Amino acid sequence: MIRSVVTGSGSALPKRAVSNAELAETVDTSDEWIVERTGIRNRYIAGEGETTSTLATDAARVALDAAGIDASEIDLIVLATATPDQTFPATATRVQDALGCQGGIAFDVGAVCSGFLYALGTADAMLRTGMAKKALVIGAETFSRILDWEDRATCVLFGDGAGALVLEAREVADGPQAQGILSTKLHADGAHNELLYVDGGPSTTGTVGKVRMRGREVFRHAVVNLADVLREVLGDTGYTAADIDWVVPHQANARILDATARKLSLPPEKVVVTVDRHANTSAASVPLAFDVAVRDGRIKPGDLVMLEAMGGGFTWGASLIRM
Ligand code: COA
Repeated sequence: MIRSVVTGSGSALPKRAVSNAELAETVDTSDEWIVERTGIRNRYIAGEGETTSTLATDAARVALDAAGIDASEIDLIVLATATPDQTFPATATRVQDALGCQGGIAFDVGAVCSGFLYALGTADAMLRTGMAKKALVIGAETFSRILDWEDRATCVLFGDGAGALVLEAREVADGPQAQGILSTKLHADGAHNELLYVDGGPSTTGTVGKVRMRGREVFRHAVVNLADVLREVLGDTGYTAADIDWVVPHQANARILDATARKLSLPPEKVVVTVDRHANTSAASVPLAFDVAVRDGRIKPGDLVMLEAMGGGFTWGASLIRM
């Protein structure tokens, strides 16, 4: 059977790191409040010349290098973002041009913080059905550009960055021990728009808008939805939580990570946490955290890795991968 195998990962961050203390100089907040409520200590903020496509391109180059393949071999780029360089064309096409891999398929996916899971599921389906052979799946954001820096309840939570995976369609033996993406489950419930949204857009206000959120309600939905979709993916593959080597969650808030892990009896040491240093980078957070755990030697060949995310829409999803 054909499976999508992860052959490389990469990530990129803006040059400027901003600590909670630095933020507290201009926003009515404190390091203590942010750490206690979210676990965030630091975030990276894009500066002049740094955009979603430049961060995405940098992450993609590192991933291609890790996979040992040339950009010209890539015939599919799926890029998840809520902060594209332009309303159109897709940021994926800018990345395609910057990498020099014209001719294949390139498009963006919008599912906010679960965008990377949606991009992964889409690319996986396209590889398995033969529409492409080698894909770059990227999550990239410059959320700092859509934050209301006067709204302390949201602006302290987010950061900028990008992460990328190379997926290659490979013929593998059937069964869960073989490499590749074993199962991806995606969901959406459009009834909750008003809990997490941007108050603008090309077709409504003609502006980009700023992030608005009712944090407490989002928190409650996140824990329930994530636990449900993790169970769904485990049920689909016949694994139990005890079989998972690493969980790479969307890095929204340390308390959401803890509560979700507890609901599934997952030991906290199996959960990859980067929210302390990156904050919430929306669609970039899962591939960024994944790349960190590959590079520090935690995620190894043969490991069973669960990715999961929840975001505006609401949208949510999870994917189980044999490395
Ligand atoms: N610094 C200091 N105080 C702050 C603050 C900040 N940055 N932001 C909010 N506060 C204050 C509020 O004004 C409020 O004060 P009040 O009680 O005097 O009115 C108090 O802190 C509590 O606010 P509340 O929003 O109820 O706090 P909370 O315990 O729910 O924590 C979040 C807020 C945002 C950290 C929390 O709700 C959360 O993490 N939600 C999930 C958000 C998320 O992850 N979204 C992305 C999903 S993709």
